Amino acid sequence: MTGIGPNTLKRLAAAWPGRATIRTDMTEVLDPGPYDPELMDYPTGLLPFAEHPDYLAATPEQQLQVNTLAWLAYNERVIAAEEYVANPTFEKLAHGVFPGCDRFEAKETIQQSHVDEVWHTYMHMLAMRRTREARRTTAEPDKYGHPVTNRRLYALAAEAGEQWERDLLYLLWTAVGEISINKFLDLVAGDDTIQPMHALVARLHARDEAAHGPVMFEVMKDVFVHLDAKQRDLLARTIPDAILAFGAEDYDLWLEILRFAGFARAKEIVEDSRSLPGNDLIVTDFGPIRRLARELEIEDRVAFDFATNQRTE
Ligand SMILES: [Fe+2]
Ligand SMILES: [Fe+2]
Repeated sequence: MTGIGPNTLKRLAAAWPGRATIRTDMTEVLDPGPYDPELMDYPTGLLPFAEHPDYLAATPEQQLQVNTLAWLAYNERVIAAEEYVANPTFEKLAHGVFPGCDRFEAKETIQQSHVDEVWHTYMHMLAMRRTREARRTTAEPDKYGHPVTNRRLYALAAEAGEQWERDLLYLLWTAVGEISINKFLDLVAGDDTIQPMHALVARLHARDEAAHGPVMFEVMKDVFVHLDAKQRDLLARTIPDAILAFGAEDYDLWLEILRFAGFARAKEIVEDSRSLPGNDLIVTDFGPIRRLARELEIEDRVAFDFATNQRTE
């Protein structure tokens, strides 16, 4: 996120044709090579209950089933963030719902990002289909439901009385998501214990997102100067909610997956894992959001300790 400045959007827009995964790496994704049955689908170390005695005592088949479902759910989380939060927000930005995005390079990078997102969803869909075929996954939890990041947004938006409040909440969730998603993708992108395609999809996705972060950083600066005091206050007040929602470990989902895989003590496994210090977040580095708050000159109003990832009031 270095080098952000007045020409950032122009530079990013000009680089898109040579950078965008949809234009450069489609073949690799469509023809990813053989599935290696020896490799996992999802990094085992990312399971918050990886060391739990009940999990370790399970059969290899049960553990593999959890692992495969964890990978499918990881993709669902990414897709839900794109389809239900980022893309509706990119549309709002393109339609002038928020002030300050009139520069051509702002409109251009918003459209490019939107195009990228739709491709990402397709890419993750392909990865999921391939996993289901290779693992012969015939049954899955009824519905993974909307992931924790989205659920918390919907809850806050439902409490908001005004449309402008809901719009700003979606904008904030999109900004925090776009600026932080590479920390989420990197959890998988460099892992060599999983299917190469799974790491590849995360790596390609992350390359596009390395541009979306600066785009949303600039867009937030452009929009913010046009907001009134009430609107600025809403953003400053809800940044901690957006951060904690983005980074959250989804324990409702883990409970669902463990139950589905036949763990009789699923609830205890989840409760034990959840109570361990630091286990509430899967993403923990929100330094770039702190920089955004600083640039917007609201850092002192954001009730969040970025060193410990705790609310401060
Ligand atoms: Fe994306
Ligand atoms: Fe993105």
